[in-house]
Amino acid sequence: MKVDLPFTLTLIVHFSSLSSSCPYTLAQCCSSLNSAVQCGVLKQCPHTNLTNSHQAGEPVHLDVYYESLCPDCILYLTQVLYPTWVLLQDILCVRLVPFGNAQEIPSEGKYIFKCQHGEQECLGNMIQTCLLNMTDNAFLIIFCMEASTDVIAAAKSCVHLYSPKLSWERLMSCVDGDVGNQLMHQNALRTNALDPPHQFVPWLTINGAHTDDLQKKATTSLFPLICSMYKGIKPVVCGNVGQKHRRI
Ligand SMILES: *[C@@H]1O[C@H](CO)[C@@H](O)[C@H](O)[C@H]1NC(C)=O
Ligand SMILES: *[C@@H]1O[C@H](CO)[C@@H](O)[C@H](O)[C@H]1NC(C)=O
Repeated sequence: MKVDLPFTLTLIVHFSSLSSSCPYTLAQCCSSLNSAVQCGVLKQCPHTNLTNSHQAGEPVHLDVYYESLCPDCILYLTQVLYPTWVLLQDILCVRLVPFGNAQEIPSEGKYIFKCQHGEQECLGNMIQTCLLNMTDNAFLIIFCMEASTDVIAAAKSCVHLYSPKLSWERLMSCVDGDVGNQLMHQNALRTNALDPPHQFVPWLTINGAHTDDLQKKATTSLFPLICSMYKGIKPVVCGNVGQKHRRI
């Protein structure tokens, strides 16, 4: 099995070196909302005042309707969403909805799924749906899978790498069982409820809204879009994007 991870690993190394270049201790970072956001540690600060969502600003919500093997989805997840999410996760709330152009057919109290890119894609969608339900590290595992030459074959190694405590057997019992079936049905409902309905994948909503303009910006320039839409104090990585005056 060939697992190709250079892209993922480079970014993680890059990200760790960013964090460690933060000149403050955690206590100093948490001494004000500004420095907490700058250090990217807002969620780790114990003071409830600092995590007050009014002061900090609501994160920007990005929902991604996709399917595990569509080439544009793979490109989007690995080249656009992942690097942006790594840098902006404190102000960006992502919901991944793997289903896309799939169809569901009710059968004996359960659902049969048919996917645009065949059974392997259905399997990939189901693995990712179960991961999103079972581990806090689902994003890392999903990005790892999507960055690999064989998305499905990479799943086991990616799980082992990012969520070593999650047993493969437990994951497969979700994938092959009623829980996975119900979770995928929820994805189908959510996808089919889109207004306007999706016309292609990846289909994006920002704070619940879809327009041609938002889709275009979220595809070609996600990073500045999120920085400019975020109403709270912007993290330092945003630079001057969408800011008339630096408040730091
Ligand atoms: C947090 O807020 C409360 C009231 O909103 C205030 O009394 C308290 O001093 C604040 N604590 C800090 C550390 O700013
Ligand atoms: C996982 O799925 C179960 C069953 O559908 C649900 O009750 C639970 O809230 C989900 N957990 C998460 C973290 O999504």
